[in-house]
Amino acid sequence: MKILLVGSGGREHALALKLLASQIPVELFAAPGSDAIAELGTCLPLEGEDVLGLTSWCVEQRPDLVVIGPEVPLVAGLGDALRAQGLTVFGHDAATARLEGSKAFAKAFMQRHGIPCAASATFTDLLAAEAAVLAWPHGFPIVLKADGLAAGKGVVLATSQKEALDTLRAFMGGQFGAASRTVVLEEPLVGMELSLHVLVDVDQEHARYVILPACQDHKRIFEGDHGPNTGGMGAFGPLPFLRPEDVERMRIDLVEPTVRGCQQDGLTARGVFFLGVMWTATGPKLLEYNVRFGDPETQVLMQLLEEDLPLLLTEIAAGRLSRNEVQIKDGCAITVVLAAEHYPEGAKKGVPINLGGADLTIIHAGTRRQDGRWITNGGRVLNLVARAENLGTARLKIETALPQVSWPGMQVRRDIGLKALTHAMAGKTVQDAW
Ligand code: AMP
Ligand code: GLY
Repeated sequence: MKILLVGSGGREHALALKLLASQIPVELFAAPGSDAIAELGTCLPLEGEDVLGLTSWCVEQRPDLVVIGPEVPLVAGLGDALRAQGLTVFGHDAATARLEGSKAFAKAFMQRHGIPCAASATFTDLLAAEAAVLAWPHGFPIVLKADGLAAGKGVVLATSQKEALDTLRAFMGGQFGAASRTVVLEEPLVGMELSLHVLVDVDQEHARYVILPACQDHKRIFEGDHGPNTGGMGAFGPLPFLRPEDVERMRIDLVEPTVRGCQQDGLTARGVFFLGVMWTATGPKLLEYNVRFGDPETQVLMQLLEEDLPLLLTEIAAGRLSRNEVQIKDGCAITVVLAAEHYPEGAKKGVPINLGGADLTIIHAGTRRQDGRWITNGGRVLNLVARAENLGTARLKIETALPQVSWPGMQVRRDIGLKALTHAMAGKTVQDAW
């Protein structure tokens, strides 16, 4: 089976490994891929946003399946362009990808379809937005979101009116170009954040979906959830204290109305929805939609998934998903991100990495090969991945492997999953204060 994987990060390296673990022989191509992915297949000198270039490659090479990793090509319409050529694509159309590409569109969708979420207001006019900040009834922090894609930097939790006004002026003044000229102000939600991935095959005729194990990411750079936000410093899943009835509640409250909403609005969905959920005192609320797999959640999910990935993704891409459950391995998976010096403000690149004989899966997120050595080449550099019978032992596996991998300035959080483990050991549930 010939597969084209679009993307280049840790998520795509994890997907590539799982695609190649299939029963059927897979010939893997990646665009643009990475030096680590190049060890698994052929990397093409084409960026994910190069819709024309990728379309002509696909028309000529006729891959059996295209898997689109990141959100930018989805929002740019790569899925539409390839499907128009009769290709089988795992990844949403641009119209559906707006659920991630425009926060204002996503909030209107949530409100239209009765999906529990933070109260919000959308502004395109600076004076009106400033007035709303001055009269804000929902308390602090005021959550400000750039409408469009801003590489994960478009959300600010302002703890004062001044910070909110400064952020508004920066956003609407074009800090992220057109992406931040429209701004969504949001009520702060308090509770436990989790990542819920749903594989979706939805069109006007049918609506089928599969909920994957709920994961939890760790966004802040420092242990104890301190310091600036990052793309994610580590994740694990499933949440040990989440009961079947909790997942059922998210299915009824969040997933069902999303899927029905797509149908009502004429949106086709052939890919994944990654729901950012805040479990508040009054139950789960939707923070945001992502139309792609999470990074580093994917590294966890690929460890847990028992299924043959090329076959599963083909079912969805071809619009013939015929089940509402997939096989999941027992136990718990965890990934810990090893990040570069100065991340997230910057990233010291070109530093040689010591990669000893660590006895677990190592995913490459931001590395390059130079003179036969791996060097740092991004903010999030490597991800250690382990699976074990429970979260505690999975954490131990990482601890055991950690001394084998290092470089000067490497940053790592040693507390991934610790808060959840403590919560579970105290007999608490998702309803209890986090
Ligand atoms: P996003 O870029 O939309 O994923 O937002 C980044 C992070 O901001 C989320 O993962 C949450 O931790 C936080 N966040 C977003 N919206 C809210 C909200 N309404 N209340 C509290 N935290 C939020
Ligand atoms: N891990 C969060 C994200 O992928 O957006």
